Amino acid sequence: MKIFTEYQLGTVPLKNRIVMAPMTRSRAINNIPSDLMAKYYSMRADAGLLITEATSISPNALGYARIPGIFSKEQISGWKKTVDAVHENDGKIFVQLFHTGRVAHKTNMPQDSRILAPSAIAAKGEMWTDAGGMQIQPVPEEMTLEDIDFAQNEFVEAAKNAMKAGFDGVEVHGANGYLLDQFINPGANQRKDLYGNSYQSRSRFTIETAEKVAAAIGSDKTGIRLSPYGVFNDMSIFDEMEEQFEYLAQELGNLNLSYVHIVDHSSMGAPEVTESVMSKIENAFGGTIIYSGGLSKEKAESILENNPLSLVAFGKVFLANADLVQRFQNNAELNEPNSDTFYTSGEEGYLDYPLLKETVN
Ligand SMILES: Cc1cc2nc3c(=O)[nH]c(=O)nc-3n(C[C@H](O)[C@H](O)[C@H](O)COP(=O)(O)O)c2cc1C
Repeated sequence: MKIFTEYQLGTVPLKNRIVMAPMTRSRAINNIPSDLMAKYYSMRADAGLLITEATSISPNALGYARIPGIFSKEQISGWKKTVDAVHENDGKIFVQLFHTGRVAHKTNMPQDSRILAPSAIAAKGEMWTDAGGMQIQPVPEEMTLEDIDFAQNEFVEAAKNAMKAGFDGVEVHGANGYLLDQFINPGANQRKDLYGNSYQSRSRFTIETAEKVAAAIGSDKTGIRLSPYGVFNDMSIFDEMEEQFEYLAQELGNLNLSYVHIVDHSSMGAPEVTESVMSKIENAFGGTIIYSGGLSKEKAESILENNPLSLVAFGKVFLANADLVQRFQNNAELNEPNSDTFYTSGEEGYLDYPLLKETVN
């Protein structure tokens, strides 16, 4: 089967085509990657590529409770333990870099941080804070051109820190309603300057950020995640969406990025990601695409059969089955993920899902 075959991702050799999708697990107390996290990732090092949970590039990017950062010395050395443990188990690992933008609450953030976004428009809905439970999401500050440049440089510094920690690469998080996606989407971006007003201008922040990160650490070490038809975090469906994602894919292809990783949350109730937008992205980008969302081994295999330049990512099944690769190889049953412990703080639902060797004995 193709899924178990090797793949050369730019300069990074992968032992199979199975990717662990990025998943926030909220175990980073004080935003510092912990020993528990090193164990969690290293247990999954049989994957061709692990992509970490979304990791904040700066204090302004720390909108949620207990998410890890990669901007302080402690955070870099915390991550180094994860990277070393994964490499000891012969795995490869990219860190997903994000800025939460308007998806944030001051209670979760350091004192002198700011909640920034392309326009002063709040995301509808509430978010969890450890200190005060569910809270309405605030109206963010509209970013100045200086703020834009500053945030892009925070991505660059975070990417350099990722190299210091030993990561094999970074995934710039352009999906799921966080800062890059807030610029992409006209529901959140109503700017009239160079960064808004047309789909080309709304794409500018993402393209420039990817370009600067790639210039700092190498395009072969820089991937990106995008979510056409995504509605998470109050993103809206809009006119010219397909044209915009085709344009983005073209520009990102010109930068020779390592891959484009496409989110498809239709299995979780989001709108379908159309075949038409997928083929536009594939053709315009011209390089490796990581497909994700609701995949079974069989669905993944058929994607790989039809697309030579592809990898397949698994989220919830990987969270619940550290030995997913071995289970696929043996056609073994899978543990069911328990959503009650997705974002809790301890080992429960994190390190205690049974392994195959424990269940067959
Ligand atoms: C607990 C949990 C946390 C997630 N956190 C992130 C994240 O940090 N970054 C991201 O890009 N996607 C995140 N996602 C989305 C997953 O990467 C993936 O797209 C989604 O789970 C669908 O894939 P699946 O059907 O294989 O689970 C998360 C999903 C879950 C279930």
